[in-house]
Amino acid sequence: MFQRFRRTRLNTHLRSLVRETNVSVNDFIYPLFVRSGEGIKTEVTSMPGVFQMSIDEILKECDELKKLGLYSIILFGIPDVKDSIGSDSLCEHGIIASAIRAVKEKHPDMFVVTDLCFCEYTDHGHCGIIDEEKETVNNDATLEISGQQAIIHAKAGADMIAPSGMMDGIIETLRDALDGAGYENLPIMAYSTKFASGYYGPFRDVAESTPSFGDRASYQMDPANRREAISESISDELQGADILMVKPVLAYLDVVREIKDNTSLPMAVYNVSGEYAMLKLAGKHDLIDYDRVVMETMVSFKRAGADIIISYHAKEVAKMLQK
Ligand code: PBG
Ligand code: ZN
Repeated sequence: MFQRFRRTRLNTHLRSLVRETNVSVNDFIYPLFVRSGEGIKTEVTSMPGVFQMSIDEILKECDELKKLGLYSIILFGIPDVKDSIGSDSLCEHGIIASAIRAVKEKHPDMFVVTDLCFCEYTDHGHCGIIDEEKETVNNDATLEISGQQAIIHAKAGADMIAPSGMMDGIIETLRDALDGAGYENLPIMAYSTKFASGYYGPFRDVAESTPSFGDRASYQMDPANRREAISESISDELQGADILMVKPVLAYLDVVREIKDNTSLPMAVYNVSGEYAMLKLAGKHDLIDYDRVVMETMVSFKRAGADIIISYHAKEVAKMLQK
């Protein structure tokens, strides 16, 4: 039998007809950082193009996002006052609740996801309540107040809750709390496979959440562990998560693919601050063709199995797609 060794060269049109992976503006969730005040829009030094904004500026930003076709955001709050339990996040008049309410009132067509964690709200910068003697996070005490934080987000009008603290049992706890308060249909996107990563560096600048002692290795995952990464995500699925997530993503595309193949839930990836900063700075110094590399990177996420991309590049990608 004749074995053909030369492939027919496809023209541009046919190449786009048969392309296996496509990136769309509908794939993206754009992160926004909100703080109190008025008229505040402060650029983050380590992340050019990313800002801390007061609520009025967030509302203007939403207008701009919608013009680009971006209708999904994830909100992070930066409170004026931090304390040992992150009280601001448990209060209806705290920064995150106020921001959710303001956005949903002015922009009911915006899909508002909320990051549920304590590290932005605690004075020690850890993702939960600290065990005094042990100097580590007390998992179960943190679960107790996480339910309260979820209800605060829900009441304010959040469209989806995204717990990012990697506490064991968090999904079941939040599902019970939300169901009990009448929010049976409020979805949960689990930061289900979140590695203890150096790539979060710039985020901790913008969220002012660098731990004052120790690190997050006791609750985040070892980058060397593939099987553990998969079982963490499957555990969140069994607890009732609606969407799973891998974070960071660039150094973990193998993990994305493998979880995708082991679940039928939609998958999100979080293209984190350090990944953004690397491309941004390389582009700034003309070391790479920035737009091209950004798009290539987004395609790699989709190809690996991501349905949703959380990325600081979202606006740039939307502009590229409009061209
Ligand atoms: C908080 C949280 C972090 C990020 C999202 N939620 C940082 C961390 O765990 O230190 C990182 C996002 C980024 O780097 O862009 N739990
Ligand atoms: Zn945290």
